[in-house]
Amino acid sequence: LKQAAEVRTAAGACPIYIEPGSLAQVERLLSEHDVGRTVLVVGDSSVAEPWVESVAGTLRRSFEVEVALAGPGEAAKSWAGAEPLFDRLVEMRAERRDTVVAVGGGVVGDLAGFVAAIYLRGINLVQVPTSLLAMADAAIGGKTAINHPRGKNLIGAFHQPLFVLEDPEVLATMPERAFREGWAEVIKHGLIADLALLAFLEDHVAELQTRDVESLTRTLIASARVKAEIVSGDEREEGRRMWLNYGHTVGHAVEAASGYEAYLHGEADSVGMIAAAVIAESLGLLDGVAVRRHADVLSAYQLPLTVDGLTKNEICEAMTHDKKRRDGRQNWVLLDGLANPVIRADVGDDSIKRALLEVGIA
Ligand SMILES: NC(=O)c1ccc[n+]([C@@H]2O[C@H](COP(=O)([O-])OP(=O)(O)OC[C@H]3O[C@@H](n4cnc5c(N)ncnc54)[C@H](O)[C@@H]3O)[C@@H](O)[C@H]2O)c1
Ligand SMILES: [Zn+2]
Repeated sequence: LKQAAEVRTAAGACPIYIEPGSLAQVERLLSEHDVGRTVLVVGDSSVAEPWVESVAGTLRRSFEVEVALAGPGEAAKSWAGAEPLFDRLVEMRAERRDTVVAVGGGVVGDLAGFVAAIYLRGINLVQVPTSLLAMADAAIGGKTAINHPRGKNLIGAFHQPLFVLEDPEVLATMPERAFREGWAEVIKHGLIADLALLAFLEDHVAELQTRDVESLTRTLIASARVKAEIVSGDEREEGRRMWLNYGHTVGHAVEAASGYEAYLHGEADSVGMIAAAVIAESLGLLDGVAVRRHADVLSAYQLPLTVDGLTKNEICEAMTHDKKRRDGRQNWVLLDGLANPVIRADVGDDSIKRALLEVGIA
């Protein structure tokens, strides 16, 4: 199994393996590390069969394995969702060198990662993402969190996994809409850092949407490299890791203003990337061709370019709660030319107004 990418931090290196059929190798990969014999597999209840069982079954060849199911749904990322996992670890007498293996979407990855980060002040973690969004984004980079009733991801920790294992064949069982929203993060990685990835996405729409495993593998590798490289330079998000929030300023506001119901995260980000592109155009950073390229690739992956039923006031109010604000100023991730992100705090209200209008928010 070849390493596809690597996140390097003060804690060491976290390899990312991406290969069809690689799920069967999880036991061998874990055995290469100096870990204890006890493993808690935290599995996404939607994929108990076949993926969670497949991972647990393989691990049983060398480890004492128990399985706890969690989710589906964002509500699982809570103290109530974490508590039974701590109980299981205590009952299993899990020690510092033992391991939590997360098998699921971003919800399960964030929850299991958070539990592994704080149980005994941190035990081993392996991420086996099963959704496109988790493969492209959530499983890579070591951010873990649960939600607070007043805000998403407010309680969390940085905790890098021993490794991340991605098997593109697992995507075969993803429901269509959840699969589709994951493209927003992949497209984002192309736009902010990898024009070859962007071109590949533009040229292989049909193969990727029908989940051709070879095309998916190529795309996931390129996408993982973008995220891993950016995180490696800035694990704690003091600088360039902010680039990964491209489109998320308006995106988060759309999610929040619509009560986290009408739009999935990736759908909201899609609209947010259009808004960011229009703002960049008004500041003279992007030309019309680049803005159109945003719209064309996002709509090719059936992601929305506009939203319905939201007002400018609602969005601006939601933006004032953005975690990325510093000293009351909104920091915008914009592109100064494709694949060249910059952070700008000097975006005027006129530019914002015009961009919101462009995505259907008046
Ligand atoms: N830690 C990070 O850096 C980071 C980054 C981005 C997002 N996130 C978090 O990730 C979460 C969203 O992740 P998500 O989009 O994967 O959502 P999710 O975990 O809710 O998964 C989406 C749905 O797909 C199901 N599913 C997952 N894999 C499947 C498969 N192979 N076959 C069939 N069904 C499958 C899940 O059960 C769920 O119903 C959010 O909580 C978000 O905050 C974290
Ligand atoms: Zn996102």
